[in-house]
This record gives sequence, structure tokens and C-alpha cells, in this order.
Amino acid sequence: MKLTVNNRDYSIDVALDTPLLWVLRDTLGLVGTKFGCGIGQCGACTIHLNGFPMRSCQLPVAAAIGAKIITIEGLAEGDKLHPVQQAWCEEDVAQCGYCQSGQIMSAAALLKNSPNPSDAEIDASMSGNLCRCGTYKRIKAGIHRAAELANNGGNAK
Ligand code: FES
Ligand code: FES
Repeated sequence: MKLTVNNRDYSIDVALDTPLLWVLRDTLGLVGTKFGCGIGQCGACTIHLNGFPMRSCQLPVAAAIGAKIITIEGLAEGDKLHPVQQAWCEEDVAQCGYCQSGQIMSAAALLKNSPNPSDAEIDASMSGNLCRCGTYKRIKAGIHRAAELANNGGNAK
């Protein structure tokens, strides 16, 4: 089967019901997307499927054929960080970092749909992304900063 990940086409040979997360990490070596709970509860495995945030541990690879998949590795545009990535650096959001690629993918999807999200919108959109280190306050600050950066001509996608 063919998959399009980060604007690159891949030919892979796996069972149709293999979770996309397994294919990304084990078959394609894109290990930026993390395995957390494996049951759709933590958000560590969040990727974009046709622009929408998805839990890749719960998505059979068959459901991703023909879709545009973006992982954390494909969020920047060349050397130019996505505004969420830039803001994460500025606000020093990450602690251990394990949950953060999922957080960043969810935040990027939120900003695409809502360029200036309120605190309540951020809470609602990010509630499915858990952080054992408790970086929630910095995540919120990072999203507000990313909105500023994106509105000033950053690379939001
Ligand atoms: S690993 Fe997919 S939601 Fe936790
Ligand atoms: S930064 Fe450690 S789990 Fe979120």
C-alpha cells in the first residue's frame, strides 16, 4: 500500500489493521510520534490526518491510505520552525519532553482552526493531551505566543 507522510510517498507492506503509529515508528522510522498509552487516552501519538489531529495508535493504517499525514517531523518548513515549535522554544515548554510532539501537533491543529484561541478553547482542545510533568501552564503560554507569531507572518499550516 502507499502512504503519503510529510509530503513524501512511501510504499509499505503491512497488515491493513496495523495501527498507523506502529507504521510510522517501526516501518518508516519516524519516531518523533510517541507511544504513550496505546488506547487513545493520552495524545502522545497525535498526528495530522488531512489537517485534523488524530490519535495514530487508534487508527488502522488502512484508514490513512490516500490521506495527507503530517507528523512532528513534517511540521517545520525547511529550516523555518512552525510557530508552535518556535513558541515552544521561547517559552521553554518541555520538561521531560515525552508528551510534547503530541501537544505540539494538537496545538498546531487548534491554531489552524482558531487563530486566536481563548483560554477556554485551549483547555477544550488540549484536554486529550496529557502531560505527566504538568507543563500545562507553559503549554497555554506557548499557544498564545504561537498565535502571536502566526499572526505576524509565521508558517502556520
Ligand atoms: S498512545 Fe495514542 S493516545 Fe496514548
Ligand atoms: S513534558 Fe514530560 S510528560 Fe509532558
